[in-house]
Amino acid sequence: MSDLRALLAYASPHRAVLALSALLMLFESVAALLVPWAGGLLTAAMLRPGESAPASVGAVLWGMLGLFALQALLKFGNTYLLGGAADKIVSDLKVRLYDHLQALPLSYYHERRLGDTLSLLTNDVYVLSGYISGTALALVPLLFTAGGAVILMFRIRPTLALLAVILIPLFYLLAKIFGRRMRPLAAQVQEEYATAIAIAQENLGMLPAIKTFTREQQESRRYREQIDRIFRLNAKQRGIYAALKPLAQLIATVGIVLVLALASTDLTDGRLAPAQLVSFLLYAALLTRPIAGLADVYGQTQMARGAFARLRQAMEEPPEPAGHVGIALPAVQGEIEFRAVSFGYGGRPLALQGVDLHVAAGETVAIVGPNGAGKSTLGHLLMRLHEPGSGQILIDDIDTATVSLASLRRQIGIVPQHVLLFNATVRDNIAYGRPEPGQADIEAAAVAARADDFIARLPQGYDTLIGDRGVRLSGGQQQRLALARALLKDPPILILDEATAMFDPQGEAEFLQACHSALKRRTVLLITHRPASLAAADRIVRMGEGRIVEG
Ligand SMILES: Nc1ncnc2c1ncn2[C@@H]1O[C@H](COP(=O)(O)OP(=O)(O)O)[C@@H](O)[C@H]1O
Ligand SMILES: [Mg+2]
Repeated sequence: MSDLRALLAYASPHRAVLALSALLMLFESVAALLVPWAGGLLTAAMLRPGESAPASVGAVLWGMLGLFALQALLKFGNTYLLGGAADKIVSDLKVRLYDHLQALPLSYYHERRLGDTLSLLTNDVYVLSGYISGTALALVPLLFTAGGAVILMFRIRPTLALLAVILIPLFYLLAKIFGRRMRPLAAQVQEEYATAIAIAQENLGMLPAIKTFTREQQESRRYREQIDRIFRLNAKQRGIYAALKPLAQLIATVGIVLVLALASTDLTDGRLAPAQLVSFLLYAALLTRPIAGLADVYGQTQMARGAFARLRQAMEEPPEPAGHVGIALPAVQGEIEFRAVSFGYGGRPLALQGVDLHVAAGETVAIVGPNGAGKSTLGHLLMRLHEPGSGQILIDDIDTATVSLASLRRQIGIVPQHVLLFNATVRDNIAYGRPEPGQADIEAAAVAARADDFIARLPQGYDTLIGDRGVRLSGGQQQRLALARALLKDPPILILDEATAMFDPQGEAEFLQACHSALKRRTVLLITHRPASLAAADRIVRMGEGRIVEG
């Protein structure tokens, strides 16, 4: 039930249209409930033509036609309104989910498969939207109608109506028994779907590795096995549905036969008029429709509950503090101080252990050390992509833990070890870190990063699309674009994480020469192994096993 309340909270901005729909549904149900009553009138008119009938056959038939037309009209209005409201609710939900996922810290993604998150955004949202627009909202008029039908049946003949009511707990029991099997199955199906998406997503991103290691057959088999697993689970689910639906229908029809049996004695005893019997049976028929649909509704409810539970779980993950939390870091000179900073990635041994490091404003410090020494981690903590376990990191004597993330990150440029480019033009990739830069600025950054030569040789120059993650460029070219992007951002603090690793020695020397003035003006952390870069640094700091061992 708390799930339902949370779902309703998402729908609350659409209260007005939902309330209007509920009203239309009520009218729709009233119209449906009038039909059996009209059926009774018609019977009476046919059996007792002339004066004693409450209405003529013609009048009742015209009335019924009007009723059906009204029903159609209400149904149209309702479907249209509700469809719109459901669409809006789901659209809002998608955007809120995306914004939340985007705000989560990187550690969230390091701990799970991207496929799980993708399946949340696609499959789970799809299940929920189908449920909201298809099942949950359609249920309301059915329940109105069923409730109304029971009440009116009681008014006609309480003893017969009691029979119908007695059957209701039986259906409930049936749903409970089947539900116990259906719920874990539904959860498992969603889980396996997520795995299938994860496999496809990862493999398509890894195609070069799959092809060069000729692993096509194994990967194809792995995917097929996953799809087969889903197929088998679906077959199980189908079996349960296939049994539940006819069973519910059987019970309902047995009920009707019982009613008929009792009614026939009532009829011969004169306790029930034929017209009343017709009305009664028509009400009973109205009642069987929602009951037969019960199985579907129940199964879909279980699936939607699973999807919603996963959605809530993600929505309840704490995001990074929002942009407005903390003071805005004023424009800095670029003095950096790590004070006794320790940090370990979730559950791993410490990647940094009591690191003390002071970098003066405008200084270029080379950071060297073996793989895994914690060099990249230093940069990530400075940008607060992760929070230190203990210790403090200060910029211009201001504790970075107290400032807003946006104001901090705006003043630090990073060229990461693994360059990340968008499938967009060269221009858009360079311009990414700065709003609305001019072409002259973009070109100046490209020149500084030694990227202008190769860009000029690209088929459309700055307008060339570079493909997913920049696949249409060489590794060194990708790195130069990332460098140009960081330089264009023009931050007082720059982190170059093995950013010259792809350069040939000549290119590296040229780059350092070209950037000399650009680098001189800022504080630079130069994570590197290259002699030319080391020579360009004011000071060398050596790291080993999460500690500063020299410098
Ligand atoms: N996201 C992560 N999750 C867990 N461990 C990590 C993660 N990133 C890095 N590590 C570990 O932290 C240590 C330091 O990594 P890193 O700072 O990248 O080293 P490097 O000096 O080579 O740049 C390594 O032992 C590495 O395995
Ligand atoms: Mg590294």
